[in-house]
Amino acid sequence: MNVAVFSSHAFELPFLERANQGRHTLRLLEPRLSEQTAMLARDCQAVSIFVTDRASRATLEILHQQGVQYLTLRSAGFNHVDLEAARALGFRMARVPAYSPYSIAEHTVALMLALNRKLVRAHNRVRELNFSLNGLMGFDMHGKTVGVIGTGKIGAAVVRILHGFGCRILAQDLYEDPGLKADCQVTYTDCDTLCRESDIITLHVPLTPETHYLINQQRIANMKQGVMLINTSRGALVNTAAVIAGLKSRKIGYFGMDVYEEEEGLFFEDHSEDILMDDKIARLMTFNNVLITSHQAFLTDTALTNIAETTVYNLDCFEKGVECENEILI
Ligand code: NAI
Repeated sequence: MNVAVFSSHAFELPFLERANQGRHTLRLLEPRLSEQTAMLARDCQAVSIFVTDRASRATLEILHQQGVQYLTLRSAGFNHVDLEAARALGFRMARVPAYSPYSIAEHTVALMLALNRKLVRAHNRVRELNFSLNGLMGFDMHGKTVGVIGTGKIGAAVVRILHGFGCRILAQDLYEDPGLKADCQVTYTDCDTLCRESDIITLHVPLTPETHYLINQQRIANMKQGVMLINTSRGALVNTAAVIAGLKSRKIGYFGMDVYEEEEGLFFEDHSEDILMDDKIARLMTFNNVLITSHQAFLTDTALTNIAETTVYNLDCFEKGVECENEILI
C-alpha cells in the first residue's frame, strides 16, 4: 500500500523503516500536512500524520479527492484532526494509544529536578570555571505536595515516581484510580483545592474544550507563592500570558514546559537562522526560572519503536480489512 508520511523527521526514520520491513511503500515527506501540501499524498491509500500536522476539513477534502481513505496518527492525541469532517468524508482512523507513558513521565520529573536544582545554570557556571554555589539553592522533593492534574497513563506514571521520592500527592481527574490511592496514598480533590495546596503542579489531561486554559489568571492567583508549574501535555492547557504575569510577580517560582500553545511552526524545526517573531516565548526565555524543551518528552528509543511498530500494524490491519483495536471510532 502507498502511504504518505507527513512531517517525517530524521529522528524517526530508522524506526519506521525497521518496523515496516518494506511491507508498505512509505513516501517520506518532510512538510507538515496542510491544505497546501495535501496534494503530496497523490496515489496514496493512507496517510500517516504527526502532532504538528493539521487535518482540517479543507485538507481532508483534498486527501479524499485523491483517494486517501485511511489516516493513521503517530500520536495518542487526536485534537489536530477535524473528526466531524473525517466522519462525513468516510475516513477510517487509527492512532498509537500508548507508546510509553514512562518517556513523558520521566521527562516531566527531569524538568522538575532540573528547575529545582538549577542544573542548567550550574552547568553553565562550571564551564566558565565559576564554582560558586550562590544562587543555586534547591529544595527537598521529599515531603512536598505535588498536584497531578490527570491521572491517566502518564499522570499515573508521574505519581508512582514522585511517590518514590516521598512526595504527598494530590490529584484531580474525572475518574479516580483506586490503584494509585492504595499504592501511593493519592488524595483526589477538585482543581481549585489542588492549585491552592500544591508546591508543584503538573498537567496530564488532554486538550479539550473543558481543559482549554485550565491554568488561568484566577487559578494562578490562588496558588502558593513560588509554586512550580510543569506542562508536558498540551500548550493551551495554560494561558501563557497569565503564566508570564505570574512569573513577573514571582507567584510562579518555576515553570517547565515541553509544549506551547503557539508551538505550531516553531517547535520541531531549526529556526537558528531566523528572527524570533513570537514575543511570548521570547519573554519566557528571559526568565532564569523557566525551562523550555521543544515537545521532546516522548523522544526515547522505546517510545519511537512503539510508535513505528503500531503505525505499521495499523496500516497492516487496514490493508487486510481486519479489526484494529487502535481505530478511533468516529
Ligand atoms: P490518558 O487518556 O491515559 O489520560 C488522560 C486523563 O485525563 C484521563 O484519566 C482522563 O480521565 C483525564 N481527563 C480528561 N479530561 C479531563 C478533565 N476535563 N478534567 C480532569 N481530568 C480529565 O492520556 P495519557 O496517555 O496519560 O496522555 C495525557 C496527555 O499527555 C495527552 O492527552 C497529550 O496531550 C499529552 N502527551 C504529551 C506528549 C509529549 O511528548 N509532550 C506525548 C504524549 C502525550
